[in-house]
Amino acid sequence: MQPTVHIDTEHTGARINKNIYGQFSEHLGRCIYNGIFVGKDSPIPNVNGMRSDVVAALREAKVPLLRWPGGCFADEYHWRDGIGKNRKRMVNTNWGGVVEDNSFGTHEFLELCRQIGCEPYINANVGSGDVREMAEWVEYLNSAGDSSVVRERWENGQKDPFHVKYWGVGNESWGCGGNMRPEYYADVYRRYQTYCRKYGDDKLYRIACGPSEGDWHWTEVLMKQAGKYMEGLTLHYYDVPTGDWQNSKGSATDFDEAMYYETLRRAAHMEKLISGHLAIMDRYDPDHRVQLLVDEWGCWFDVEPGTNPGFLYQQNTMRDAMVAAITLHIFQSHADRIGLCCIAQVVNVLQSMILTDGDRMLLTPTYHVFNMFKDHQDADVLESAVFADTVEGGLKQVTASASKKDGRVTVSLANLSADAPADVLIDLSGSYGYADGLVLSGKMDDHNTFDCPDRLAPKPLSLRATERGFVATLPACSVAVVTFHA
Ligand code: AHR
Repeated sequence: MQPTVHIDTEHTGARINKNIYGQFSEHLGRCIYNGIFVGKDSPIPNVNGMRSDVVAALREAKVPLLRWPGGCFADEYHWRDGIGKNRKRMVNTNWGGVVEDNSFGTHEFLELCRQIGCEPYINANVGSGDVREMAEWVEYLNSAGDSSVVRERWENGQKDPFHVKYWGVGNESWGCGGNMRPEYYADVYRRYQTYCRKYGDDKLYRIACGPSEGDWHWTEVLMKQAGKYMEGLTLHYYDVPTGDWQNSKGSATDFDEAMYYETLRRAAHMEKLISGHLAIMDRYDPDHRVQLLVDEWGCWFDVEPGTNPGFLYQQNTMRDAMVAAITLHIFQSHADRIGLCCIAQVVNVLQSMILTDGDRMLLTPTYHVFNMFKDHQDADVLESAVFADTVEGGLKQVTASASKKDGRVTVSLANLSADAPADVLIDLSGSYGYADGLVLSGKMDDHNTFDCPDRLAPKPLSLRATERGFVATLPACSVAVVTFHA
C-alpha cells in the first residue's frame, strides 16, 4: 500500500506546548563542565563562561526549557554551595566520583537560560535536603522583599527576582532520590510544596516526582494523596534496546536490524505508558488540571568504549533520530495533556543534541530532528490518520504529526524502514498551493563524528504535487518535515 497521511486542516486541536521540546542538563560527565560551561578564562569562545558554539546551536533549535541540576545529582545538590565567592567542593558520588567545584551554580544556570532564551526548570533536593533549603531557594530566586535571603542575591549581583516558575520537588524519589514508598513521598511532597511560596505574581508550577515506566501504583497513590497540590506529575522512561540494565544495554553504533527495530518498538511503548498513566490520573482529576510530564526520556546505550562509565557518554545515530521522531509524535498526539518533556540530556550525555571534544562540537541526528520540528512549537495540533504497511516489530512504516500556526501547516514524517524508501502521499484538506521540506536520512547506524561532523544534516526534500495531494519521497530510515503555505 502507498503510505498515506490524511490531514484535516480545518479543525485544530490542542496547542502543542513548546515545552514538549525541553532539554535536561545534569551535573553528569561532560554535560555542564566542558560541554556547556568552560569558564570565562577558557580559550574556547564563550560569553560569561558559556560556550558560544553550543549556545548558538541551542538558540537556533529554539530550545524552550532547560531542566537542572539533575537527575540523581539534584538530591545531593545544596544550592548554597553554588553561589557567591567561596564555593564548596564535593565529590559527585552519583556520576564518576569526580570533584564538583560548584563553579556552575544557580546564577550561572540562569545566565545560561538567558543566553539560550529558554525557561529555567529547577529540580530541588528532597532526598538529602530539607524543606527550608528548598523554600529559601524559591525565595532567593523569586522574592522582591527585603529579607536576608534576598539580600544575599543582591550581594551576588542580581537585584531583580529571576521569576523561576518550574520547580521539581525531588527526582526519582522511588530510587536515587531517597528510595521512598509512594505513600511516604506523597506526604513529603505535600509538606515541601506548602512552603514553596508565591512571591508577587509568580505562580509556581509545582512538579511532583512521578512513576518509573509502568509503575501504575505510584501514579495512583500520588494522584490520590497529593494530586490537588501539584501542577505536573513527571514520568521517566528510557529506551534500553536489550532491556538489560545490568550487563549490556547495547552499543550506540554497532547493532543489527533486529536491534534497530527493537529500539523503535521500545520507543513506541511511550504511547502505552502515557495512555496508561493518564487513565489513572483521570480518576482523581477528571477536569485534567494536572499535566503529565516526561522530564527524562531517550535512548540509553552502553558508554563509548574507553570512556568513564559514570559519564554516560554515547554516540548518536540515525536510529536515535527515528526514536526522537517517534517520541515527539506521541507527545504531540497527547498535546491536550502533556505540558513539558525533557530529552536526556542536552550535551555529551545519553541521547544528546550536541557532542563536544575540546573546542570541537558536532550536532547529532537527534539535534536535527528537534531543529526540523521546531515549527510545531506552540502550534495547534491537527488530526491526522496514517495508512501504511508495517515493518518488523509491528510498527507502521510511516509515522506523522501535523500542526497549524499562522496559516501554515507543518507536517513531520518518519520512514522507519531500514531499507525501503517510501513515496508518502500527503492528503490535506483545504487549498495549500506551495510546500517546501527538509529530510534527514542515512543508514540506521550512520552518525556524525568530529572528523566528519556534517555527514548527516537535513537536505531539501523531494516533493511533487499530484491530483490526490503532495507526494514526499522519503529515503529508507529518514525523518522529514514539510511546510504547506496557503
Ligand atoms: O539521566 C541520567 C539519570 O537517569 C538521572 O540522573 C536519573 O534521574 C535517571 O535515573
